[in-house]
Amino acid sequence: MNQTEDNNKKVNSDTIFSSIFTDFEGRFKGRLGAVIPTKIFNASENAPISARYDCRIKAGYHKDIMRLLEEGMIVAVRNFKSKTENQKKTEDRTENSSDKRFTLLVISRIWPDHYGLRGLSDSTYYPMQFEVIEQSVMDWEGDDMSTMMIQLSTIPINYDLIIHEDDGSYEFAKGFSYPIIGDEAYLLNAETIRDMYNKKILEQLQKEKEKAKNGATLDINEQNIGIIKMFENSKEKIPIFVNYDNMIRYHFGIFSFTGGGKSNLLSNLLRKILLGSSDNKIVIFDISSEYPFLLMDIFNNSAIKSKIILESPIKNSDQFYISVVKPRDYEENENVRRSLAKIYDKGIVSHFIKPQDVTPTFHIILEQLYKLREESSNRPHYISAIGEIQRKIVEFIIQNELVEKDPINERFVQLLVTHALQAMEKFKVNEKSTLFGWAASLEYLINSIQKNDSKKSDDGFTTDQIINMIDGDTRLVCLSISDPYKIKDIVINISNEILRRRKRQFKVRPYVLFVFDEAQEFVADLSNSRGIDKECSQEVETLLRQGRKYGLGGCIATQRIAYLNTSALQQLHTYFVGTLPRPYDRNVVSSTFTIDQGILEKTLEFAPGEWLLSSYIATGIENIPIFIKADNSEKVLEEFLTK
Ligand SMILES: Nc1ncnc2c1ncn2[C@@H]1O[C@H](COP(=O)(O)OP(=O)(O)O)[C@@H](O)[C@H]1O
Ligand SMILES: [Mg+2]
Repeated sequence: MNQTEDNNKKVNSDTIFSSIFTDFEGRFKGRLGAVIPTKIFNASENAPISARYDCRIKAGYHKDIMRLLEEGMIVAVRNFKSKTENQKKTEDRTENSSDKRFTLLVISRIWPDHYGLRGLSDSTYYPMQFEVIEQSVMDWEGDDMSTMMIQLSTIPINYDLIIHEDDGSYEFAKGFSYPIIGDEAYLLNAETIRDMYNKKILEQLQKEKEKAKNGATLDINEQNIGIIKMFENSKEKIPIFVNYDNMIRYHFGIFSFTGGGKSNLLSNLLRKILLGSSDNKIVIFDISSEYPFLLMDIFNNSAIKSKIILESPIKNSDQFYISVVKPRDYEENENVRRSLAKIYDKGIVSHFIKPQDVTPTFHIILEQLYKLREESSNRPHYISAIGEIQRKIVEFIIQNELVEKDPINERFVQLLVTHALQAMEKFKVNEKSTLFGWAASLEYLINSIQKNDSKKSDDGFTTDQIINMIDGDTRLVCLSISDPYKIKDIVINISNEILRRRKRQFKVRPYVLFVFDEAQEFVADLSNSRGIDKECSQEVETLLRQGRKYGLGGCIATQRIAYLNTSALQQLHTYFVGTLPRPYDRNVVSSTFTIDQGILEKTLEFAPGEWLLSSYIATGIENIPIFIKADNSEKVLEEFLTK
């Protein structure tokens, strides 16, 4: 190789490198100083990044670097699978002889080191200590690399970056390779990060969109959750995309203290799920009655069939307005009042009723008889009696041109009582038998009929009717019920029945997402709960365990992850972690999802709406946590309200 060829190659490799990496205009120069083995605890089944090694990078000091460099950024260091120049020369030129392989590391901690301060000990002469400390303040402003340096603690993310030097392309390959100690550390630039997290997802979203028959309304480039919280000082914002279908099917969790933005993030995700697909469905168990406000625009959108079920009946839009929880800033807002009134006027607001509050249908009476018949299988004369009553009922239905699903009426009850008692006599049914007891108590059915005529317009929904609603064409059902017992009872019945139906139908689509905000209410730790709390938690766990196969997903949002059902938590394949002030909560996150503690601690600095996102399946790169800033859902509402 002569001199110019060598130079050309160098120039070429430099341009490739500068298209993939950034050195902040010459300000970042670092090398891998040491690789320190660390212990890992509790590697779970879908173990994401594990800090098997703490890779220390030492970078020359520059005052801007402390501002530019952030935890969560990704560094590449050449590894032993990379071919060295000498190897290349001796080997044949195979197709990958010009590949460079790098081990990828995520920055978990950054700190500046000062040589003078390091040298100080508590026993140093006191005036000397003060002098050195005072001096150092000025030093940080300068760029004296001989007294200061920047240290980075980084963790392998178990991916390699392979750069094909002949055409400048690159790819990511799974697996850990030992990095070369002492070699240069390169920082992935914004463009590469964007590719790494989004390229695959955007392709998937495009494919989904093409498949969708009646086209989703939301444009793909509006489907991002927010932006990547990295390179914030650069002008360009990097959006972050997820595959919503995978997020639903493989369940997701949102964890942060109260006020961290869980409901805000969740409402934004739900909005995008509904607008971005044409058939995905959502059921919200809204124990704090926030979602009629948070999804106001969706409830007002006539393209999306929705329903709000409240705890008790309301008479007018004012009562609806009062029963919905609004953030403090919106409490006296006339636009909100108007918008909620519009939702009420659409007729989609109703309430929950227990089955015993409803007039029974012919079907229910017939069902009772089928049951009695099964119990009497060893008494032929009882079966004959039952058969006769069944015939009379069917006759009545046909004569009056009714169907089984219709509610019974008074005339029917009178006839039924007469015929039933006649049949008891005719077939000599024992007075102590269940069958006789049933026949003798029929008169009470009269009591369950009366209410029906008074208010026809809105007589509420039973659990069965809500289930049918979800099974029908309603895409969003919001159960704003604050009575914990009532809502848990509904959770148990709905999740159980929907799962049962899906199994029978061998159906996967449309996906249904069950949303549990304030999830500590619904998925309590099994060892510390009893009664309905326990039953509800078990039911949700079953839903999460089995639902995936049938297109049923779950979302769990809570501020106290420590008291949750851990088996349920382990089913979540995507998680958003905000600020968790209690170390114990962070420990649970760290051990359940195997996220490094150092990276988790960064969440303590988060403002509301900032999240650590990690996903096994829904982001472009498996289980690599990334810091994001979620879009503020209130902006969408604001826009909607002032339209
Ligand atoms: N993405 C965001 N951007 C800006 N502000 C946000 C964001 N998310 C939440 N907030 C602010 O934080 C407040 C609390 O959010 P909320 O979703 O109610 O929290 P949580 O449900 O965790 O208690 C909101 O009223 C909002 O002002
Ligand atoms: Mg909330």
